[in-house]
Amino acid sequence: MMRQILEKLDQFVGQNKRLVSVLAFLYAAGIATRSIGKVLGFINRQLLPGYNLIERYGKGSYAAISACTDGIGKGFAIELAKRGFNLVMLIRNVKKGEELAEEIKKTINKDIDIRIVEIDFQNIQKEGVIESIIEQMQGLDISILVNNVGVLIHGPFELYSYSQINKLISMNVGAQTLLTKGLISQLLKRKQKGAIINLSSMSSYYPVAGFAMYGGSKSFNNYFSGSLSEEYKGRLDIIAVRPGWVDTPMTDGMNDKMLEITQEQCARVVLRQLGRTTLTFGHYKHEITALLTDLSINLINTLQRMKLQGVVLQQSQKYQKS
Ligand SMILES: NC(=O)c1ccc[n+]([C@@H]2O[C@H](COP(=O)([O-])OP(=O)(O)OC[C@H]3O[C@@H](n4cnc5c(N)ncnc54)[C@H](OP(=O)(O)O)[C@@H]3O)[C@@H](O)[C@H]2O)c1
Repeated sequence: MMRQILEKLDQFVGQNKRLVSVLAFLYAAGIATRSIGKVLGFINRQLLPGYNLIERYGKGSYAAISACTDGIGKGFAIELAKRGFNLVMLIRNVKKGEELAEEIKKTINKDIDIRIVEIDFQNIQKEGVIESIIEQMQGLDISILVNNVGVLIHGPFELYSYSQINKLISMNVGAQTLLTKGLISQLLKRKQKGAIINLSSMSSYYPVAGFAMYGGSKSFNNYFSGSLSEEYKGRLDIIAVRPGWVDTPMTDGMNDKMLEITQEQCARVVLRQLGRTTLTFGHYKHEITALLTDLSINLINTLQRMKLQGVVLQQSQKYQKS
C-alpha cells in the first residue's frame, strides 16, 4: 500500500517538476521570511533602545499605577520616577504608600509629585467606587496608566469558592477595564500621546490545567489590550505584558521559579518596548520560557493534572475524617 503511494508520488513529481520546484521554493521562502521576522522582532524587542518616554508623553505629566506598594507595580513606580514622571499611586495601604513615596523622593527623584488614591481593588465593581477614584484624579495630566493589579488563584477549579472567583474577576478583569474606561477620554484629548500598560501573564499563552480562572482572566487582558491598540492605533501606545516568573509577594514561597527576574527588570524592559510593540513577554528570559513552554506544554499539563488530582483526593480525605 505504502509502496504504491510512494510510486504514485514519484510519478507525479516526475511529471510536474516545475510545479513541485515552485511549491518547494514558496515553502522555503515562507519559512525563511518567518524566521527572519522572528529574529528582527527579537532584536527590536530586546536590543534596541526605547523612546525617551518623558519627551514622548510630556514633561510634568503623571503615571497612574494600580497596586504599586510592592511587586511589579513598585518596579514601575521606581522606573517611571527615574524617568521624571509624577506618580499617582492607586493603593489600599496608605501608610505603606506614604513610606514608599518618601523613599522614592529621597533616593530616586526629589523633584516629582506623588499622589495617593486609596482603593481596595476587590471593591472596584461596587457602586460609585470607580467614579470616586476618577474624581480624585481630576485635574492631573495623566499620560500613562499602568493596569498592574492582579491576584493569582490556582488549583482544582471545583475547589474554588464563589468569593475567590468574584475577587479574581474584580481584580484581574474589572480593575483593568474600569480604570481604562475612566481615563481613556482624557488620555485621548492630550496634545501629546498617552500610553496604557496592561499586565497579563505567561499563563495566558496556553491553557494550563489548574489555571482556568487566572489564565482565562489574563487572556481577557491580552484581547482587551490588543483590541484597544487596534482601535486607537497612532493615538495611544497600548501594550499587553505577559511575564513569566517575577520575584514578588505573589510568587513568594512557590517552587521551581525557572528564569525568574526582579520586579525592576520586568518594568525596565517593558518601558523600553513601550510604543514599539503591542504584545510582549517582556524580558528575554521570558521569551525563552515561552519557547520552552512551546516544546513541553503537553508534559506540563500531564504533570499538572496529576498534581490537581492529588489535591482533590487530599481534600476529600480531610472532609471524610472531620
Ligand atoms: N509575579 C509574577 O511572577 C507575575 C507573572 C506574570 C504576571 N504577573 C501579573 O503582574 C501583576 C502584578 O503582579 P505582582 O506579582 O507584582 O503581584 P503582587 O505581588 O500580589 O502585588 C503586590 C501589590 O498588590 C497590592 N494589592 C494586593 N491586593 C490588593 C487589593 N485588593 N487592592 C489594592 N492593592 C492590592 C499589594 O498591596 P499591599 O502592599 O497593600 O499588600 C502590593 O502593592 C498582576 O496582574 C499579576 O497577575 C505577575
